[in-house]
Amino acid sequence: MNELSKFKGAQCPGTSYNEMLEGDSRPAPDYLFEESHRDMPTDPLPIEPYVSEEYAAEEREKLWPNVWLFAARNEELPNPGDQVVFEIADKSFVLVRQQDGGVRAFYNVCLHRARRLVDKAGNRTQMRCGFHGFTWNNDGSLKEIPCEWDFEHLKAKDMSLPEVRVNIWQGFIMITENDDIAEFEDWVGPVLEQYENYHLDDCFTAMWVQREIPANWKATSEAFMEAWHSVTTHPQLLPFLGDANTRYDLYGDNFNRAITPSGVLSPHIEGKDQTYILDKMAEFSGKGGDSRMRNLGNEDAIAKLDPNDPFLARKVLADANRQAFSERDGYDYSEISDSEMLDNFTYNIFPNFAPWGGHVPQLCYRWLPGKTADTCTMEIRVLMRTPKGEKTPQAAEKVIVPNDQPWSWAKDVMGEALANVFDQDMANLPHVQTGMKASANGVMELGAYQDSRVRHFNETLNKYMTGELPAK
Ligand code: FES
Ligand SMILES: [Fe+2]
Repeated sequence: MNELSKFKGAQCPGTSYNEMLEGDSRPAPDYLFEESHRDMPTDPLPIEPYVSEEYAAEEREKLWPNVWLFAARNEELPNPGDQVVFEIADKSFVLVRQQDGGVRAFYNVCLHRARRLVDKAGNRTQMRCGFHGFTWNNDGSLKEIPCEWDFEHLKAKDMSLPEVRVNIWQGFIMITENDDIAEFEDWVGPVLEQYENYHLDDCFTAMWVQREIPANWKATSEAFMEAWHSVTTHPQLLPFLGDANTRYDLYGDNFNRAITPSGVLSPHIEGKDQTYILDKMAEFSGKGGDSRMRNLGNEDAIAKLDPNDPFLARKVLADANRQAFSERDGYDYSEISDSEMLDNFTYNIFPNFAPWGGHVPQLCYRWLPGKTADTCTMEIRVLMRTPKGEKTPQAAEKVIVPNDQPWSWAKDVMGEALANVFDQDMANLPHVQTGMKASANGVMELGAYQDSRVRHFNETLNKYMTGELPAK
């Protein structure tokens, strides 16, 4: 038995994702058919990395400076002189749009007595420290030292702001402190080509919310690496979500994906027909919700399809999306597969970045470690395609949900249905963190297939902790 068939055998019985792709009304791209799995260990995972301050300190030393990090989206700093602050794990960086359109990223620290140099985003001609007034130009060169007579000794010194590497990929401004690791595209690998159909460089941040989560950043991100918690945590999704049909694929060290089909019954539900799927999806989306739903009542569209087609609902919903997206942004989606119009392409780039693929309004997550191992910050964005011929809008302002409020506090920007799903995840996370601390044996047991992305993520992390990565 080869590795692949071993994993096929271990997947949920019933319709496979590839069978759904074969039932698509348009040819689905090859990379969706390709399974990329590998034999992974099944031994328990230690809990200590999730709860230990020493481990968090090691991450600050060995992990965060040595990976590519998603620092900002292009549309957060569209104009020369725009400055954005990105902070992670005690580090602070200021990203500055240059006159030539490029972006430079500097350590956001004054070289006098180390005050943080720029406190918040804005458009400025310079960076002036709020303490004694040392000032740098936007290209990082020193502009002015107040009371210069007192700093004769700095005259011959390079007082430019130290900077880090920048790589802009699909509108995401990626940075790394490490001068030796490969360029971002090579670091992740050819799998990044999967994004080429999805025009993320042409998208803008249409929604952006953030909340502190009382759980470790790894436990929080891992809660979004598998779909199989839906049966217990998000039961309202089962009528139209193939939670247990989800495909999990692992690529190299730094990328993995889950593809969760939409518009199909969960394998946990039996004896319901295609109309049930459509009705429940409409109910979930709500009146006045996503305009993709309006085709649901279109009996003519449904009548043209084979009533025995097991993927009728997928075809109806994908068509509704094609029409709605095209009306919204002016692009032609008529040749795009049902799968790419509908399914949840939850892609993760190590260690803390999840830019979804597909043509649905793309979700994009980022997790940032907290001040202690017991907290983190989670950000959720929705990226929408800039309407054809229009200038890319500025990124939506980030809405920060107060610590004592649920995500649905921001339901006006998130939409009620989406906010509720994240609140259901929130109902677990604080208890995951306290549960980990209360564990008798100090380990967790993982599913071989459905938790394989958690395993993969931990294997890569472990390579950083043991010095196997970054590659020298
Ligand atoms: S600390 Fe910045 S000018 Fe003194
Ligand atoms: Fe969830």
